[in-house]
Amino acid sequence: MAAPLVIGIDIGTGGVRVLLVDGRDGSVLDRACGDWPVSSPHPGWSEQDPDTWWSVTATAIGSVVNRLDDPADIKAVAFAGQMHGLVLRDAQGHVLRPAILWNDQRTELQRGAIHDRIGIARCIELTGKPVLTGFTAPKLAWVQDNEPDNAGRIASISLPKDHVVFRATGVHAIDVADASGTSWLDIQTRDWSPEICEALGVDPHWLPPVHECSDVVGSITAEAAALTGLTEGTPVVAGAGDQAASGLACGVTEPGLVSVTIGTSGVVFAQADAPPRDPNGSLHGFCHAIEHRWHWMGCMLAAGGSLEWFRDTVAPGSSFDELIDEAMSVVPGSEGLCFLPYLSGERCPHDDPQASGAFIGITTRHERRHLSRAVLEGITFGLADMLQLVRDTGQPVETVRLAGGAARSGPWRQLLADVFQVRVESVNEPDATAYGAAILAMVGAQIHPDAASAANAVVRVTDAIDPSDADYSKAWSRWRRLYSELAPAMHRLAD
Ligand code: XUL
Repeated sequence: MAAPLVIGIDIGTGGVRVLLVDGRDGSVLDRACGDWPVSSPHPGWSEQDPDTWWSVTATAIGSVVNRLDDPADIKAVAFAGQMHGLVLRDAQGHVLRPAILWNDQRTELQRGAIHDRIGIARCIELTGKPVLTGFTAPKLAWVQDNEPDNAGRIASISLPKDHVVFRATGVHAIDVADASGTSWLDIQTRDWSPEICEALGVDPHWLPPVHECSDVVGSITAEAAALTGLTEGTPVVAGAGDQAASGLACGVTEPGLVSVTIGTSGVVFAQADAPPRDPNGSLHGFCHAIEHRWHWMGCMLAAGGSLEWFRDTVAPGSSFDELIDEAMSVVPGSEGLCFLPYLSGERCPHDDPQASGAFIGITTRHERRHLSRAVLEGITFGLADMLQLVRDTGQPVETVRLAGGAARSGPWRQLLADVFQVRVESVNEPDATAYGAAILAMVGAQIHPDAASAANAVVRVTDAIDPSDADYSKAWSRWRRLYSELAPAMHRLAD
Protein backbone atom coordinates (compact mmCIF):
# COMPACT_ATOMS: atom_id res chain seq x y z
CA MET A 1 0.00 0.00 0.00
CA ALA A 2 1.28 3.51 -0.84
CA ALA A 3 2.51 5.61 2.11
CA PRO A 4 -0.10 8.06 3.39
CA LEU A 5 1.19 11.51 2.42
CA VAL A 6 0.41 14.93 3.86
CA ILE A 7 1.16 18.45 2.72
CA GLY A 8 2.22 21.26 5.10
CA ILE A 9 2.20 24.84 3.84
CA ASP A 10 3.67 28.04 5.29
CA ILE A 11 2.01 31.27 4.12
CA GLY A 12 4.98 33.43 5.13
CA THR A 13 5.73 37.13 4.85
CA GLY A 14 8.20 36.70 1.98
CA GLY A 15 6.42 33.83 0.26
CA VAL A 16 5.08 30.30 0.49
CA ARG A 17 6.81 27.02 1.33
CA VAL A 18 5.17 23.70 0.55
CA LEU A 19 6.39 20.39 2.00
CA LEU A 20 5.24 16.93 0.90
CA VAL A 21 5.76 14.61 3.86
CA ASP A 22 5.43 10.89 4.52
CA GLY A 23 2.78 10.88 7.25
CA ARG A 24 4.19 7.84 9.05
CA ASP A 25 7.88 8.65 9.55
CA GLY A 26 7.84 12.38 8.79
CA SER A 27 10.40 12.27 6.00
CA VAL A 28 10.18 15.19 3.59
CA LEU A 29 9.74 13.82 0.07
CA ASP A 30 9.46 17.01 -1.95
CA ARG A 31 9.25 20.76 -1.51
CA ALA A 32 8.36 23.90 -3.46
CA CYS A 33 8.27 27.62 -2.80
CA GLY A 34 7.09 30.90 -4.30
CA ASP A 35 7.55 34.58 -3.45
CA TRP A 36 5.38 37.65 -2.99
CA PRO A 37 6.19 41.29 -2.28
CA VAL A 38 5.36 43.41 0.77
CA SER A 39 4.22 46.94 0.05
CA SER A 40 4.67 49.90 2.36
CA PRO A 41 2.52 52.74 0.98
CA HIS A 42 3.35 54.91 4.04
CA PRO A 43 6.19 54.73 6.58
CA GLY A 44 5.35 52.05 9.15
CA TRP A 45 2.69 50.41 6.95
CA SER A 46 3.03 46.84 5.71
CA GLU A 47 0.49 45.34 3.30
CA GLN A 48 0.02 42.42 0.91
CA ASP A 49 -2.51 41.29 -1.68
CA PRO A 50 -4.39 38.26 -0.20
CA ASP A 51 -5.35 36.82 -3.57
CA THR A 52 -1.67 36.70 -4.61
CA TRP A 53 -1.12 34.38 -1.61
CA TRP A 54 -3.65 31.98 -3.10
CA SER A 55 -2.50 32.10 -6.74
CA VAL A 56 1.22 31.65 -5.86
CA THR A 57 0.36 28.93 -3.31
CA ALA A 58 -1.82 27.02 -5.78
CA THR A 59 1.06 27.00 -8.31
CA ALA A 60 3.56 25.82 -5.64
CA ILE A 61 1.20 23.03 -4.49
CA GLY A 62 0.71 22.04 -8.14
CA SER A 63 4.45 21.69 -8.73
CA VAL A 64 4.67 19.13 -5.89
CA VAL A 65 1.41 17.29 -6.62
CA ASN A 66 2.05 16.98 -10.34
CA ARG A 67 5.21 14.93 -9.67
CA LEU A 68 3.14 12.25 -7.88
CA ASP A 69 1.69 9.17 -9.58
CA ASP A 70 -1.53 9.46 -7.61
CA PRO A 71 -2.56 12.71 -5.86
CA ALA A 72 -5.13 10.69 -3.89
CA ASP A 73 -2.17 9.42 -1.80
CA ILE A 74 -2.31 12.85 -0.12
CA LYS A 75 -4.53 12.27 2.91
CA ALA A 76 -4.65 15.80 4.36
CA VAL A 77 -3.34 19.32 3.83
CA ALA A 78 -2.69 21.97 6.51
CA PHE A 79 -1.74 25.63 6.31
CA ALA A 80 0.23 27.66 8.85
CA GLY A 81 1.46 31.19 8.38
CA GLN A 82 2.21 34.76 9.32
CA MET A 83 0.01 35.78 12.24
CA HIS A 84 -2.07 38.85 13.13
CA GLY A 85 -2.75 40.06 9.54
CA LEU A 86 -6.20 41.48 8.79
CA VAL A 87 -8.06 40.25 5.68
CA LEU A 88 -11.53 41.72 5.08
CA ARG A 89 -14.04 40.26 2.62
CA ASP A 90 -17.46 41.44 1.42
CA ALA A 91 -20.63 39.35 1.21
CA GLN A 92 -19.53 37.93 -2.16
CA GLY A 93 -16.23 36.73 -0.64
CA HIS A 94 -14.18 39.42 -2.43
CA VAL A 95 -11.25 41.01 -0.63
CA LEU A 96 -12.07 44.61 0.37
CA ARG A 97 -8.55 46.06 0.71
CA PRO A 98 -4.93 44.84 0.94
CA ALA A 99 -4.19 42.78 4.05
CA ILE A 100 -2.60 44.74 6.91
CA LEU A 101 0.31 42.61 8.14
CA TRP A 102 1.78 41.64 11.52
CA ASN A 103 4.64 44.16 11.28
CA ASP A 104 2.43 47.15 10.38
CA GLN A 105 2.70 49.92 12.96
CA ARG A 106 -0.14 52.31 12.03
CA THR A 107 -2.47 51.56 14.96
CA GLU A 108 -0.93 53.33 17.97
CA LEU A 109 -4.07 55.49 18.43
CA GLN A 110 -6.46 52.57 18.11
CA ARG A 111 -4.66 50.26 20.53
CA GLY A 112 -4.56 53.12 23.06
CA ALA A 113 -8.31 53.57 22.66
CA ILE A 114 -8.89 49.81 23.15
CA HIS A 115 -6.81 49.86 26.34
CA ASP A 116 -8.80 52.88 27.56
CA ARG A 117 -12.08 51.05 26.91
CA ILE A 118 -11.23 47.60 28.30
CA GLY A 119 -8.22 48.22 30.57
CA ILE A 120 -4.79 46.67 30.04
CA ALA A 121 -5.12 44.33 33.04
CA ARG A 122 -8.44 42.98 31.71
CA CYS A 123 -6.92 42.53 28.22
CA ILE A 124 -4.10 40.48 29.78
CA GLU A 125 -6.56 38.48 31.88
CA LEU A 126 -8.79 37.58 28.92
CA THR A 127 -6.44 37.48 25.93
CA GLY A 128 -3.06 36.72 27.54
CA LYS A 129 -1.37 40.05 26.67
CA PRO A 130 -1.97 43.75 26.17
CA VAL A 131 -3.18 44.83 22.72
CA LEU A 132 -0.13 45.45 20.53
CA THR A 133 -0.05 47.64 17.43
CA GLY A 134 0.62 44.65 15.17
CA PHE A 135 -2.35 42.62 16.45
CA THR A 136 -5.57 42.25 14.47
CA ALA A 137 -8.07 44.05 16.75
CA PRO A 138 -6.52 47.55 16.45
CA LYS A 139 -6.20 47.04 12.68
CA LEU A 140 -9.94 46.50 12.36
CA ALA A 141 -10.47 49.60 14.53
CA TRP A 142 -8.15 51.55 12.19
CA VAL A 143 -10.25 50.53 9.17
CA GLN A 144 -13.43 51.47 11.05
CA ASP A 145 -11.91 54.88 11.91
CA ASN A 146 -10.30 55.65 8.55
CA GLU A 147 -12.10 53.70 5.80
CA PRO A 148 -15.83 53.80 6.61
CA ASP A 149 -16.76 52.57 3.10
CA ASN A 150 -14.72 49.40 3.52
CA ALA A 151 -15.84 48.99 7.13
CA GLY A 152 -19.49 49.19 6.04
CA ARG A 153 -19.05 46.29 3.60
CA ILE A 154 -17.31 43.79 5.93
CA ALA A 155 -18.98 40.36 5.84
CA SER A 156 -16.09 38.17 7.01
CA ILE A 157 -12.65 38.53 8.58
CA SER A 158 -9.70 36.14 8.20
CA LEU A 159 -6.08 35.91 9.19
CA PRO A 160 -3.68 35.34 6.26
CA LYS A 161 -3.49 31.53 6.12
CA ASP A 162 -7.25 31.29 6.79
CA HIS A 163 -7.93 33.38 3.69
CA VAL A 164 -5.98 30.79 1.72
CA VAL A 165 -7.98 28.01 3.43
CA PHE A 166 -11.15 29.93 2.45
CA ARG A 167 -10.04 29.99 -1.21
CA ALA A 168 -9.07 26.29 -1.10
CA THR A 169 -12.20 24.97 0.67
CA GLY A 170 -14.87 27.70 0.64
CA VAL A 171 -14.92 27.34 4.45
CA HIS A 172 -14.45 30.25 6.87
CA ALA A 173 -12.50 28.83 9.83
CA ILE A 174 -9.68 29.62 12.23
CA ASP A 175 -7.55 27.73 14.77
CA VAL A 176 -6.96 28.63 18.44
CA ALA A 177 -3.26 29.40 18.05
CA ASP A 178 -3.62 31.97 15.26
CA ALA A 179 -6.81 33.35 16.85
CA SER A 180 -4.74 34.07 19.99
CA GLY A 181 -2.95 36.83 18.07
CA THR A 182 -6.09 38.83 17.32
CA SER A 183 -6.82 40.22 20.85
CA TRP A 184 -10.42 38.99 20.41
CA LEU A 185 -9.83 35.45 21.77
CA ASP A 186 -10.37 34.38 25.38
CA ILE A 187 -7.37 32.08 25.85
CA GLN A 188 -9.04 30.27 28.77
CA THR A 189 -12.19 29.21 26.88
CA ARG A 190 -10.29 28.95 23.56
CA ASP A 191 -13.13 30.86 21.87
CA TRP A 192 -13.95 34.47 20.95
CA SER A 193 -14.48 36.71 23.98
CA PRO A 194 -18.05 38.10 23.90
CA GLU A 195 -16.93 40.85 26.30
CA ILE A 196 -14.11 42.05 24.04
CA CYS A 197 -16.05 41.70 20.79
CA GLU A 198 -18.98 43.66 22.17
CA ALA A 199 -16.76 46.40 23.60
CA LEU A 200 -14.94 46.77 20.27
CA GLY A 201 -17.95 46.67 17.93
CA VAL A 202 -16.92 43.37 16.30
CA ASP A 203 -20.01 41.71 14.80
CA PRO A 204 -19.77 38.00 15.78
CA HIS A 205 -20.98 37.07 12.27
CA TRP A 206 -17.72 38.43 10.84
CA LEU A 207 -15.64 35.92 12.80
CA PRO A 208 -15.23 32.22 11.90
CA PRO A 209 -15.75 29.28 14.26
CA VAL A 210 -12.58 28.56 16.31
CA HIS A 211 -11.12 25.03 16.05
CA GLU A 212 -8.27 23.12 17.66
CA CYS A 213 -5.34 23.24 15.23
CA SER A 214 -5.51 19.56 14.23
CA ASP A 215 -9.28 19.54 13.49
CA VAL A 216 -10.38 18.94 9.91
CA VAL A 217 -12.32 22.07 8.88
CA GLY A 218 -13.15 21.43 5.23
CA SER A 219 -11.98 19.84 2.02
CA ILE A 220 -10.50 20.88 -1.32
CA THR A 221 -13.19 22.21 -3.69
CA ALA A 222 -13.46 21.21 -7.35
CA GLU A 223 -12.16 24.67 -8.34
CA ALA A 224 -9.14 24.42 -6.01
CA ALA A 225 -8.51 20.86 -7.21
CA ALA A 226 -8.34 22.11 -10.81
CA LEU A 227 -5.83 24.81 -9.81
CA THR A 228 -3.58 22.69 -7.55
CA GLY A 229 -3.80 19.14 -8.89
CA LEU A 230 -5.02 17.97 -5.45
CA THR A 231 -7.93 15.55 -5.39
CA GLU A 232 -11.30 17.18 -4.77
CA GLY A 233 -12.43 16.32 -1.24
CA THR A 234 -8.89 16.08 0.26
CA PRO A 235 -9.33 17.03 3.95
CA VAL A 236 -7.96 20.40 5.07
CA VAL A 237 -6.92 20.83 8.70
CA ALA A 238 -7.34 24.09 10.68
CA GLY A 239 -3.56 24.65 10.89
CA ALA A 240 -1.85 27.22 13.12
CA GLY A 241 -0.11 30.55 13.36
CA ASP A 242 3.49 30.21 12.22
CA GLN A 243 5.00 30.33 15.69
CA ALA A 244 2.86 27.57 17.21
CA ALA A 245 3.51 25.44 14.11
CA SER A 246 7.22 26.10 14.38
CA GLY A 247 7.20 25.25 18.12
CA LEU A 248 5.55 21.94 17.25
CA ALA A 249 8.13 21.24 14.55
CA CYS A 250 10.87 21.83 17.15
CA GLY A 251 9.19 19.27 19.43
CA VAL A 252 8.17 21.80 22.10
CA THR A 253 5.64 19.47 23.69
CA GLU A 254 6.87 19.63 27.30
CA PRO A 255 8.30 22.27 29.69
CA GLY A 256 12.11 22.68 29.65
CA LEU A 257 12.47 22.75 25.88
CA VAL A 258 12.27 26.24 24.40
CA SER A 259 12.31 26.96 20.69
CA VAL A 260 13.91 29.97 19.08
CA THR A 261 12.81 30.71 15.52
CA ILE A 262 14.70 33.25 13.46
CA GLY A 263 12.76 34.28 10.38
CA THR A 264 12.01 37.90 9.54
CA SER A 265 10.92 38.12 13.17
CA GLY A 266 12.67 36.37 16.07
CA VAL A 267 10.61 34.29 18.46
CA VAL A 268 11.16 32.56 21.78
CA PHE A 269 8.49 29.93 22.51
CA ALA A 270 7.83 27.77 25.60
CA GLN A 271 5.01 25.34 26.37
CA ALA A 272 2.57 26.00 29.26
CA ASP A 273 0.02 23.65 30.88
CA ALA A 274 -2.34 26.48 31.88
CA PRO A 275 -3.21 29.83 30.28
CA PRO A 276 -0.07 31.97 30.74
CA ARG A 277 -0.40 35.60 31.77
CA ASP A 278 2.60 37.90 32.22
CA PRO A 279 1.40 40.69 34.54
CA ASN A 280 3.96 43.02 32.93
CA GLY A 281 2.50 42.22 29.52
CA SER A 282 5.91 41.68 27.90
CA LEU A 283 5.51 38.02 26.97
CA HIS A 284 2.44 36.81 25.08
CA GLY A 285 0.29 34.00 26.51
CA PHE A 286 -1.28 32.16 23.55
CA CYS A 287 -3.02 28.84 22.85
CA HIS A 288 -0.60 26.15 21.60
CA ALA A 289 -1.13 24.09 18.46
CA ILE A 290 -1.28 21.09 20.83
CA GLU A 291 -4.85 20.41 21.90
CA HIS A 292 -5.72 22.01 25.25
CA ARG A 293 -2.23 23.41 25.90
CA TRP A 294 -0.85 26.95 25.84
CA HIS A 295 2.48 28.65 25.28
CA TRP A 296 4.57 31.61 26.31
CA MET A 297 6.00 33.66 23.49
CA GLY A 298 8.21 36.68 22.94
CA CYS A 299 8.52 38.16 19.47
CA MET A 300 11.08 40.68 18.26
CA LEU A 301 10.07 42.19 14.95
CA ALA A 302 13.36 42.29 13.01
CA ALA A 303 15.70 39.36 13.72
CA GLY A 304 16.52 37.75 10.37
CA GLY A 305 14.93 40.93 8.99
CA SER A 306 17.84 42.97 10.43
CA LEU A 307 20.47 40.73 8.83
CA GLU A 308 18.62 40.85 5.53
CA TRP A 309 18.40 44.66 5.70
CA PHE A 310 22.13 44.84 6.51
CA ARG A 311 23.06 42.54 3.65
CA ASP A 312 20.87 44.37 1.11
CA THR A 313 21.95 47.84 2.22
CA VAL A 314 25.58 47.54 3.24
CA ALA A 315 26.78 44.37 1.54
CA PRO A 316 24.62 43.77 -1.56
CA GLY A 317 25.67 40.64 -3.42
CA SER A 318 27.10 38.96 -0.29
CA SER A 319 25.59 35.75 1.01
CA PHE A 320 24.49 35.42 4.65
CA ASP A 321 27.24 32.79 5.11
CA GLU A 322 29.90 35.26 3.89
CA LEU A 323 28.68 37.89 6.35
CA ILE A 324 28.59 35.40 9.22
CA ASP A 325 32.10 34.14 8.34
CA GLU A 326 33.58 37.64 8.28
CA ALA A 327 31.77 38.44 11.56
CA MET A 328 33.47 35.46 13.20
CA SER A 329 36.91 36.97 12.49
CA VAL A 330 36.04 39.69 15.06
CA VAL A 331 36.30 39.16 18.83
CA PRO A 332 33.11 38.75 20.93
CA GLY A 333 31.67 42.18 21.75
CA SER A 334 32.61 43.59 18.30
CA GLU A 335 35.28 45.83 19.89
CA GLY A 336 32.67 48.06 21.49
CA LEU A 337 30.36 48.36 18.47
CA CYS A 338 26.67 47.71 19.19
CA PHE A 339 23.66 47.27 16.91
CA LEU A 340 20.07 47.72 18.10
CA PRO A 341 17.75 45.65 15.90
CA TYR A 342 14.57 47.73 16.28
CA LEU A 343 14.24 48.41 12.54
CA SER A 344 10.46 47.86 12.48
CA GLY A 345 9.75 49.33 15.92
CA GLU A 346 9.74 46.65 18.61
CA ARG A 347 7.29 44.39 20.37
CA CYS A 348 9.24 42.38 22.95
CA PRO A 349 10.81 43.04 25.40
CA HIS A 350 10.14 46.69 24.53
CA ASP A 351 6.57 47.37 23.41
CA ASP A 352 7.58 50.42 21.37
CA PRO A 353 6.35 51.04 17.82
CA GLN A 354 8.58 54.14 17.68
CA ALA A 355 11.80 52.31 18.52
CA SER A 356 14.33 52.37 15.69
CA GLY A 357 17.58 50.66 14.82
CA ALA A 358 21.04 52.01 15.63
CA PHE A 359 24.75 51.33 15.28
CA ILE A 360 26.48 52.91 18.23
CA GLY A 361 30.13 52.95 19.24
CA ILE A 362 31.57 53.17 15.69
CA THR A 363 35.19 54.28 15.50
CA THR A 364 37.76 54.42 12.70
CA ARG A 365 39.11 50.99 13.64
CA HIS A 366 35.82 49.29 12.75
CA GLU A 367 35.46 47.59 9.38
CA ARG A 368 32.46 46.01 7.71
CA ARG A 369 33.16 42.71 9.48
CA HIS A 370 32.68 44.49 12.83
CA LEU A 371 29.32 45.80 11.61
CA SER A 372 28.37 42.24 10.57
CA ARG A 373 29.32 40.90 13.99
CA ALA A 374 27.47 43.71 15.79
CA VAL A 375 24.30 42.88 13.79
CA LEU A 376 24.51 39.17 14.68
CA GLU A 377 25.19 39.98 18.33
CA GLY A 378 22.39 42.59 18.46
CA ILE A 379 19.85 40.06 17.14
CA THR A 380 21.15 37.38 19.53
CA PHE A 381 21.07 39.73 22.54
CA GLY A 382 17.46 40.66 21.65
CA LEU A 383 16.57 36.96 21.69
CA ALA A 384 18.45 36.54 24.98
CA ASP A 385 16.37 39.36 26.49
CA MET A 386 13.22 37.38 25.68
CA LEU A 387 14.69 34.10 26.95
CA GLN A 388 15.41 35.90 30.22
CA LEU A 389 11.74 36.93 30.41
CA VAL A 390 10.76 33.26 30.02
CA ARG A 391 13.19 32.34 32.83
CA ASP A 392 11.70 35.14 34.96
CA THR A 393 8.26 33.46 34.77
CA GLY A 394 9.78 30.44 36.52
CA GLN A 395 9.70 28.27 33.38
CA PRO A 396 12.72 25.97 33.09
CA VAL A 397 14.98 26.67 30.08
CA GLU A 398 17.06 23.51 29.77
CA THR A 399 17.58 23.28 26.03
CA VAL A 400 16.92 25.59 23.10
CA ARG A 401 15.75 24.13 19.80
CA LEU A 402 16.44 26.30 16.77
CA ALA A 403 14.41 26.86 13.64
CA GLY A 404 14.64 29.28 10.74
CA GLY A 405 17.65 30.84 9.06
CA ALA A 406 20.15 30.78 11.95
CA ALA A 407 19.63 27.04 12.35
CA ARG A 408 21.53 26.60 9.07
CA SER A 409 24.71 28.33 10.30
CA GLY A 410 27.14 26.54 12.65
CA PRO A 411 28.94 29.74 13.83
CA TRP A 412 25.66 31.52 14.58
CA ARG A 413 24.41 28.45 16.49
CA GLN A 414 27.58 28.62 18.62
CA LEU A 415 27.02 32.35 19.25
CA LEU A 416 23.45 31.59 20.36
CA ALA A 417 24.63 28.82 22.73
CA ASP A 418 27.33 31.11 24.19
CA VAL A 419 24.98 34.04 24.78
CA PHE A 420 22.03 31.91 26.02
CA GLN A 421 24.35 29.70 28.14
CA VAL A 422 22.37 26.55 27.28
CA ARG A 423 22.69 23.69 24.81
CA VAL A 424 21.34 24.63 21.38
CA GLU A 425 19.89 21.83 19.25
CA SER A 426 18.85 21.68 15.62
CA VAL A 427 16.05 19.47 14.37
CA ASN A 428 15.43 17.48 11.20
CA GLU A 429 13.43 20.11 9.27
CA PRO A 430 14.52 23.76 9.27
CA ASP A 431 11.37 24.88 7.37
CA ALA A 432 9.66 24.55 10.72
CA THR A 433 6.39 26.37 10.03
CA ALA A 434 5.52 24.23 7.01
CA TYR A 435 6.69 21.11 8.87
CA GLY A 436 4.53 22.01 11.88
CA ALA A 437 1.58 22.30 9.50
CA ALA A 438 2.45 18.86 8.09
CA ILE A 439 2.45 17.45 11.66
CA LEU A 440 -1.07 18.84 12.17
CA ALA A 441 -2.12 17.32 8.84
CA MET A 442 -0.91 13.91 10.10
CA VAL A 443 -3.43 14.17 12.94
CA GLY A 444 -6.20 15.27 10.55
CA ALA A 445 -5.35 12.26 8.36
CA GLN A 446 -5.68 10.05 11.48
CA ILE A 447 -2.09 8.79 11.16
CA HIS A 448 -1.29 9.99 14.71
CA PRO A 449 -3.84 10.54 17.50
CA ASP A 450 -2.90 14.10 18.52
CA ALA A 451 -0.43 16.88 17.77
CA ALA A 452 1.99 16.10 20.63
CA SER A 453 2.29 12.41 19.70
CA ALA A 454 2.68 13.29 16.02
CA ALA A 455 5.49 15.75 16.87
CA ASN A 456 7.16 13.28 19.24
CA ALA A 457 7.01 10.60 16.53
CA VAL A 458 8.64 12.62 13.73
CA VAL A 459 10.83 15.40 15.22
CA ARG A 460 14.48 14.36 15.60
CA VAL A 461 17.49 16.22 16.99
CA THR A 462 20.19 16.36 14.31
CA ASP A 463 22.86 18.51 15.96
CA ALA A 464 23.69 19.90 19.42
CA ILE A 465 26.10 22.67 20.43
CA ASP A 466 27.08 23.42 24.05
CA PRO A 467 28.26 26.81 25.28
CA SER A 468 32.00 27.42 24.82
CA ASP A 469 34.25 29.50 27.09
CA ALA A 470 33.33 32.76 25.31
CA ASP A 471 31.86 35.19 27.85
CA TYR A 472 29.23 37.62 26.58
CA SER A 473 27.84 38.68 29.93
CA LYS A 474 29.50 42.13 29.91
CA ALA A 475 28.75 42.79 26.24
CA TRP A 476 25.10 41.80 26.74
CA SER A 477 24.60 43.95 29.84
CA ARG A 478 26.30 46.95 28.13
CA TRP A 479 24.01 46.40 25.12
CA ARG A 480 20.86 46.04 27.28
CA ARG A 481 21.26 49.49 28.77
CA LEU A 482 21.32 51.16 25.35
CA TYR A 483 17.60 50.88 24.61
CA SER A 484 16.51 52.90 27.63
CA GLU A 485 19.36 55.37 27.09
CA LEU A 486 18.48 55.90 23.42
CA ALA A 487 14.68 55.57 23.51
CA PRO A 488 14.06 59.32 24.06
CA ALA A 489 16.17 60.11 20.97
CA MET A 490 14.37 57.41 18.94
CA HIS A 491 11.00 58.89 19.89
CA ARG A 492 12.11 62.43 19.02
CA LEU A 493 13.31 61.23 15.62
CA ALA A 494 10.07 59.33 15.00
CA ASP A 495 8.05 62.46 15.73
C1 XUL B 1 4.32 36.35 15.75
C2 XUL B 1 4.60 37.32 14.67
C3 XUL B 1 5.46 36.92 13.56
C4 XUL B 1 4.60 36.75 12.35
C5 XUL B 1 5.41 36.62 11.08
O1 XUL B 1 3.56 36.90 16.78
O2 XUL B 1 4.14 38.42 14.67
O3 XUL B 1 6.20 35.81 13.82
O4 XUL B 1 3.74 35.69 12.57
O5 XUL B 1 6.10 35.50 10.96
